[in-house]
Amino acid sequence: MSSGAGRLRVAVLVSGTGSNLQAILDAAPDLCIEVCAVLSNRAECYGLERARRAGVPAVFVDPKAHADRAAYDAALAEGIDAFRPGLVVLAGFMRILSDAFVRHYQGRLINIHPSLLPKYRGLDTHARCLAAGDREHGATVHFVVPELDAGPIVLQARVPVLPDDTPEALAARVLEQEHRIYPAAIGWFAEGRLALQGGLALLDGSPLPAP
Ligand code: GRF
Repeated sequence: MSSGAGRLRVAVLVSGTGSNLQAILDAAPDLCIEVCAVLSNRAECYGLERARRAGVPAVFVDPKAHADRAAYDAALAEGIDAFRPGLVVLAGFMRILSDAFVRHYQGRLINIHPSLLPKYRGLDTHARCLAAGDREHGATVHFVVPELDAGPIVLQARVPVLPDDTPEALAARVLEQEHRIYPAAIGWFAEGRLALQGGLALLDGSPLPAP
């Protein structure tokens, strides 16, 4: 893994397969970032295994060891901050985060969501898109704000919905795009081109156009 001075330190939070994490790890040498840690709320998730294989510290923060969300989020933040990241990346992290946690990382916390936000916040986005009869679907990278899946949009990718699509087939088509746009957005941040200011996502100082 590449490391060294000048590289943005990125902590990635995962709960599942971690294919987005893998895309970020693979792109890291070209993006001027160093994935400094991967943290998870699930001990057995494959995302943690991917981190270990890449030689990146893999940290399980056990929800059962903490009395409530506030205590868990404080422990999670402590675990993250020990690695001094400049950016925290949610990559399939399946927990609602408290306002205090989100405020702590304001402007340096991003997420990828498998829909063309503001459509289909929350879960089961692919099935909901099919049920609605949409002709296109996609993924969105956004800054995280306390309201779920509602933060300023950074980047979107669109895919067609095909006649015989299943949620699984559609998810796979979307995921392929996620693996492209998430590293791209992280690269912008690492280059100092992307920022959250006054509730707006700015690229090179200008508000990103609404999708
Ligand atoms: C992705 O679909 C992402 O958009 C969503 O959770 C899924 C994570 O997949 N937030 P993976 O663990 O990166 O493969």
